[in-house]
Amino acid sequence: MYYIGVDLGTSAVKLLLMSGDGKIENIVSKEYPISFPKPGWSEQEPSDWWNKTVEGIKELTDGFDKSQVAGISFGGQMHGLVVLDKDDKVIRPAILWNDGRTSKETDYLNNVIGKSKLSQYTANIAFAGFTAPKILWMKENEPDNFARIAKIMLPKDYIAYRLSGVHCTDVSDASGMLLFDVKNKKWSEEMMEICSVKREQLADIYESFQVVGNILPDIAKELGFKETVKIIAGAGDNAAAAIGTGTVGEGHCNVSLGTSGTVFISSKNFCVDDKNALHAFAHADGNYHLMGCMLSAASCNKWWMDDIIGSNDYSGEQKGIEKLGENHVFFLPYLMGERSPHNDPFVRAMFIGMSMDTTRADMTQAVLEGVAFGIRDSLEVAKAQGIKIDSTKICGGGAKSPLWRRIMANVLGIDVEIIESEEGPGYGGAILAAVGCGEYASVEEAAEKLVKVVDVVKPEKELVDKYNERYSQFKKLYPSVKDLY
Ligand code: XUL
Repeated sequence: MYYIGVDLGTSAVKLLLMSGDGKIENIVSKEYPISFPKPGWSEQEPSDWWNKTVEGIKELTDGFDKSQVAGISFGGQMHGLVVLDKDDKVIRPAILWNDGRTSKETDYLNNVIGKSKLSQYTANIAFAGFTAPKILWMKENEPDNFARIAKIMLPKDYIAYRLSGVHCTDVSDASGMLLFDVKNKKWSEEMMEICSVKREQLADIYESFQVVGNILPDIAKELGFKETVKIIAGAGDNAAAAIGTGTVGEGHCNVSLGTSGTVFISSKNFCVDDKNALHAFAHADGNYHLMGCMLSAASCNKWWMDDIIGSNDYSGEQKGIEKLGENHVFFLPYLMGERSPHNDPFVRAMFIGMSMDTTRADMTQAVLEGVAFGIRDSLEVAKAQGIKIDSTKICGGGAKSPLWRRIMANVLGIDVEIIESEEGPGYGGAILAAVGCGEYASVEEAAEKLVKVVDVVKPEKELVDKYNERYSQFKKLYPSVKDLY
């Protein structure tokens, strides 16, 4: 049988076709636009997601026996607010995870309702990108649109809805809404009240590997699939990526270098850090996880390469980088503000420390290092909680670069394990589909059987020492510049 993983990302939807034994048969990627209508805002059209997903699935399965497709599941960009009216029309463009317009609402939630109540209700505090502050923003700024809301959903759930007709979400993605009682895996009555949201506007909750329904007959016909194809709830992209890299069970770590950058730590038990600096979410394997999220990771390098130096030779630009740990230039990777650990939608990116002998390669190196330092910021929070991390998996577009992987191993000072494919969320989505269809007994069993580590990048003592020093300088930069914004 075949399983399809839909990775509904921020720059593109990536579709992956997997056979029952875990072999990746095909991968297709379809880009769509993102709009930044005002500084710090970030929106996308759900119809673009849908059209590109359908187009991509057709291309993905072209030439394969379509009657063998058994299930479809997802890893989706998290937190985005998608609102539908009573006729299922999308009311306004989706407000994305990296949108920073909700500083007032975030402030209200954290300081008027209070962090301790939020943490008690949801296990988390408010961050500008989360869904609940967006709902409050809409209530205040677009009251007519707000009054029309019949259904609230997250990005990948919009695709699941169009495919199956079921208004569903899964525990990992619901965790990022700040409307969900993560510990008890149910909607929080208190948060619904605070955000003026009614239960019937919210989706039904599933574990990530559960079947929500069959594909709608007309869609099955359009795609050439059987009407028995199952739609499986799926997960937020980070939880799906964790499945795709085998980051399941107790105490394992995954770093994702996509548009965002995340550190994901799986846990068998529900846990919250004492300052709520990390997100405490449910995991797609049925357990829980802690996560730190930086808003711009591989996107910093993409911005630097595409928009600033105008080069698409990513590996060529990195070839000239030789002096690791000795760069005098720092890059603060805050192109969209920062989530973890600063929770600051206003701060912006910076280069610091250039001199007349600074080269283009130094600047490129600073971008890669700045992202690695940002990832370390979140890892340090986890370590301060007593969590011991000796190694991490790595995935996402940035993980393709051997240089970036080496920088990461040395900045974090831990082994970086390379998986056969860096298609974390797409592969994780396909695994969830396979588990939902009964091909494997559990997510853990599937991940154990299917995910293979093919290489390990070891930290090098001398470089780790140099980077520790650089990191101690990097840490001083945010506090010194934050008041500029
Ligand atoms: C996680 C987060 C991002 C998006 C990116 O909290 O906001 O990783 O999910 O797709």
